Amino acid sequence: MNSYTVQVASQEHFDLAESICHEMAESAKARGTGIAKRTPEYLREKMSEGKAIIATDDVDGSFVGFCYIETWQHGNFVANSGLIVNPSYRQYGVAKAVKAKAFELSRERYPEAKIIGITTSLAVMKINSDLGYEPTTFSELPVDDNFWKGCQSCVNYDILTRTERKICLCTGMIFDPNEVKKTDEEKDEKWIFLKNMADFSQLKKFKEKLLMPFKPKGKSK
Ligand SMILES: CC(C)(COP(=O)(O)OP(=O)(O)OC[C@H]1O[C@@H](n2cnc3c(N)ncnc32)[C@H](O)[C@@H]1OP(=O)(O)O)[C@@H](O)C(=O)NCCC(=O)NCCS
Repeated sequence: MNSYTVQVASQEHFDLAESICHEMAESAKARGTGIAKRTPEYLREKMSEGKAIIATDDVDGSFVGFCYIETWQHGNFVANSGLIVNPSYRQYGVAKAVKAKAFELSRERYPEAKIIGITTSLAVMKINSDLGYEPTTFSELPVDDNFWKGCQSCVNYDILTRTERKICLCTGMIFDPNEVKKTDEEKDEKWIFLKNMADFSQLKKFKEKLLMPFKPKGKSK
């Protein structure tokens, strides 16, 4: 694998938007989840606003990894969305590096905002945990319908609607800058049972059994 550089994306990366979108769609197909449709134009908009992080190959400049930030409820929440790593570079820490840069950018631009994410990916849960996110209930996430619109193209959307947005296969995670300022005694202990990846994995399996009792075997990713 060639070395790569992680940076805030700009107009000089516009020509990579097509291949990033293509990979997002292909990976979603492979995972069988469906995904919020992103267009190359939308990714270019994020790049020109300085709200996207890109990793590029140092030798040929091709796309290695990507994600962007979005704000909700007047900047009270920031989500790091659209994380994708080129399959040839997976398992080498690229997602970790891209998410760390996106986290840094989010903290710089929106220091008071809660940083949030919803995901079924154990890799992403691990990265988020290491960055200081905690698992949270959906009621702590934005109430804005536009935030949840991104879920409409997911194959599990019926679960989210039938539970009235209370629970789904995704785990909600949050970094609350105010929690960080608290002492250990002051911190909310309600999710303390989720301490490591084995716990996240168990929770995911439990939710699949509970919410998808008739799911065909071998579909879990
Ligand atoms: C998920 C994805 C972004 C991970 O990218 P990656 O560059 O391979 O991830 P990293 O190498 O940075 O791994 C980060 C951590 O997750 C762990 N990890 C990676 N894949 C994992 C998996 N399938 N299950 C559990 N943990 C995993 C790694 O061991 C690493 O932990 P460590 O820091 O303790 O070593 C990549 O597989 C991808 O693009 N998938 C398709 C799109 C997608 O699923 N996006 C996420 C939508 S929320």
